[in-house]
Amino acid sequence: MHWPETISKRLGIKYPVIQAPMFGVSTVEMVAAATRADCLGSLAVADLSADESIFLIKETRKLTDKPFAVNIFAHEIPEITDALQDQFLRTRQFLEQLAKENNIDVKLPYLEDLKVSSYHELVDVVIEENCKILSFTFGNLDDQSIEKLKEKGVTLIGTCTSVNEALILEKSGIDIICVQGTEAGGHRGTFDPDHVPQIGGLSLLSQVSDHVKVPLIYAGGIYNGKTLQAAKELGAQGFQVGNILLASQESALEPFEKKRLKKVQENEIILTKSFSGRYARGLKNKFIELIEGSEYILPYPYQNKLTNGLRKAAKSKQNTDFVGIWVGQSIHHYSELSTEHILRNLILQTEGK
Ligand SMILES: Cc1cc2nc3c(=O)[nH]c(=O)nc-3n(C[C@H](O)[C@H](O)[C@H](O)COP(=O)(O)O)c2cc1C
Repeated sequence: MHWPETISKRLGIKYPVIQAPMFGVSTVEMVAAATRADCLGSLAVADLSADESIFLIKETRKLTDKPFAVNIFAHEIPEITDALQDQFLRTRQFLEQLAKENNIDVKLPYLEDLKVSSYHELVDVVIEENCKILSFTFGNLDDQSIEKLKEKGVTLIGTCTSVNEALILEKSGIDIICVQGTEAGGHRGTFDPDHVPQIGGLSLLSQVSDHVKVPLIYAGGIYNGKTLQAAKELGAQGFQVGNILLASQESALEPFEKKRLKKVQENEIILTKSFSGRYARGLKNKFIELIEGSEYILPYPYQNKLTNGLRKAAKSKQNTDFVGIWVGQSIHHYSELSTEHILRNLILQTEGK
């Protein structure tokens, strides 16, 4: 296959293959390994604090001098109302009781203990640290941030899960759009957190390609040369992969989680709001079965921050019933080799070698 060149040239990489940002799973080592495969690495900083993000950017730079993207969550933070405070207390109590009944020793935070920061701080970090590529999900950046970033020559990559979101991103001057199909593992990039995107990746990619002129990256279900080529055929000029790297050497998943991945069945892969308050594709377990559809789901980021301690405690006990394992729909190819090897193999397959 002949690789499309627009995105590689713009981002300064050889192959337009992007290691998906995967907050909690991708690591600075994974980003560096992706750059060694001549692909784009993505450093996921989600909604971490400015200091934590600066630390990770510096750590990445110690490992690679090649381009990489910084990835953030561009979400609105819901206002704290009396109703939210009440719901938080009820959810906290319910989850602590649930943890106790399941022998998980954890003390969950109160609302006032949570540190919730806006993405604007991270926009400033990207500028101050002289990062050249910013990708984002969960919405669009505001006009002021876009202007500031563009003045500094930062290439912007926004995520869409519908034609409408793609049109909004294009209109506001975003340089590249990552089209996320419903197959993708992890959180939906959907702007409206209550909307469940239903359009399959191939249909979505083709329709977005019909409606916008900016170059497109496709994310969702790519696991070999053929799936990558299908995305190219439908209009993608860049190819983002997350799921195939979940069990790689550089993944932050624990060995027991990687072992669990190998046994995943198709009917266990679902979209759930239960861990974070936003829809994410992951592996069904006891926690999800109990929480999904219940009154104990706060809006993002409050649910995410509230369940964080519970997930960590479950992880330390290797308890797969209460950890959140995000997976995509292409579940049959989990390699434990290095990220560099997995990406190089994908490139070779695509080139028919
Ligand atoms: C564990 C995990 C965490 C993710 N975290 C993020 C993230 O922090 N930011 C983001 O933009 N996308 C995130 N995603 C979505 C990916 O960027 C990408 O859309 C998806 O992995 C592509 O589909 P695939 O998993 O089928 O390869 C995550 C995906 C996974 C599997």
